[in-house]
Amino acid sequence: MIIIFTFALFACLFFLTEGNTQTKHFETAGQKFKSIKILNEMPADQMGKVMNMMSASLGVKCGFCHASDDGDYEKEGFEHKDIARQMLKMTFDLNKNYFEGKPEVNCSTCHQGHAHPRAEFPLAPAISQDGRLKQPEKKPDVFELIDKYSAAVGTRTRAGIKTLHIKALRVEPDGVTTEPEEIWAKNEKVLTETRYGDYIVKELFDGTSASKFGNSSKIDIKPDEAEQIKREAQLLSGDLRSIYQKMDFRAVELLDGRKVYRIDAVTSDKQSDRLYFDMDSGLLVRRSSATPTVLGFHIFQVDYLDYKDFGGFKLPTTINYAMPQIYWTRKVLKVENGAKFDDQIFTLN
Ligand code: HEC
Ligand code: HEC
Repeated sequence: MIIIFTFALFACLFFLTEGNTQTKHFETAGQKFKSIKILNEMPADQMGKVMNMMSASLGVKCGFCHASDDGDYEKEGFEHKDIARQMLKMTFDLNKNYFEGKPEVNCSTCHQGHAHPRAEFPLAPAISQDGRLKQPEKKPDVFELIDKYSAAVGTRTRAGIKTLHIKALRVEPDGVTTEPEEIWAKNEKVLTETRYGDYIVKELFDGTSASKFGNSSKIDIKPDEAEQIKREAQLLSGDLRSIYQKMDFRAVELLDGRKVYRIDAVTSDKQSDRLYFDMDSGLLVRRSSATPTVLGFHIFQVDYLDYKDFGGFKLPTTINYAMPQIYWTRKVLKVENGAKFDDQIFTLN
């Protein structure tokens, strides 16, 4: 039921932002793409996410099923593409027949990053898996956790900051290729610029909405992408209470060997995030957001690491962004507090 509801909500958001005036709520993959046999009824804008989720589940690139990694995706006559269709059908049937239609099973359930799922049984002596971390007897007060975070990052000091100018590097997954990045922030406005040689990508949050430009042309972004640009901009303020209307403690979990508090948070416009706070330092170390698709949730995850002090307030200097098949890192090089720049930079079109 929840799934159906979020799905409908997603479809509505799609409808609103696309400004579609027809009576149907969203364009289906069957309508938009040329050679669709199974995913006919899927909202067309899930295509990229679903293809990335399938690739990540099998640990392959697009070319494993399609002729190449860039284009001609509608071409037929490839064995793996045909098998993938059977697998899609099998996966949907499993969910329909055994899991009340909820997307419980997906490609990753069996494939786990391998094109050939491993059917071997474990032969090593079993190590008890019921090791859910000991949970606190009394639920921690979420507002105390937020206060601890605010004190740790220096939110009060940050509130007095008029402008920020950050220089950073975007590091690609090969760990070698980098692109220069600059971020300008003034009050709630944040502009991020990434230079891929002559091609400059700008992401703007103007205090109300998010947009993206490649050189001077606007790039269409999906509602969930816009939401992520907005949230990353908002988080620069460090003021979680103004971002999230509702926050609930869920569990103590392990993240890279450290104990963290997991908080489920909802913004005033009903967007959900999971927030993970380091139990010792109180710092926010991970945020993740989920967008529903026909193959279950598509996850966007951000890890905030290597916090450094920049004169009374702390910022993470290594930020890892990840979603299925797409990863990059931002390395912060320099932070200038109170930088002077023209407000015009926030006017793009
Ligand atoms: C595991 C196999 C597999 C992988 C990997 C895969 N695809 Fe697909 N792709 C398919 C199948 C199967 C279809 C057709 C779905 C249907 O018939 O409903 C398809 C359809 C498409 C379509 C629609 C083409 C059209 O016009 O009909 C696009 C676009 C696409 N894929 C892009 C990609 C991209 C980009 C990647 C890499 C990120 C990718 N795919 C990775 C199996 C795969
Ligand atoms: C219930 C388990 C299960 C699920 C779920 C599943 N698969 Fe598979 N898949 C398998 C098994 C088992 C094989 C290997 C069959 C064999 O070796 O001949 C396989 C094989 C494949 C192959 C052929 C690989 C090759 O190298 O020939 C592709 C492509 C594939 N799956 C794609 C998918 C996609 C895409 C999904 C999700 C839509 C998916 N599978 C979901 C179990 C599963």
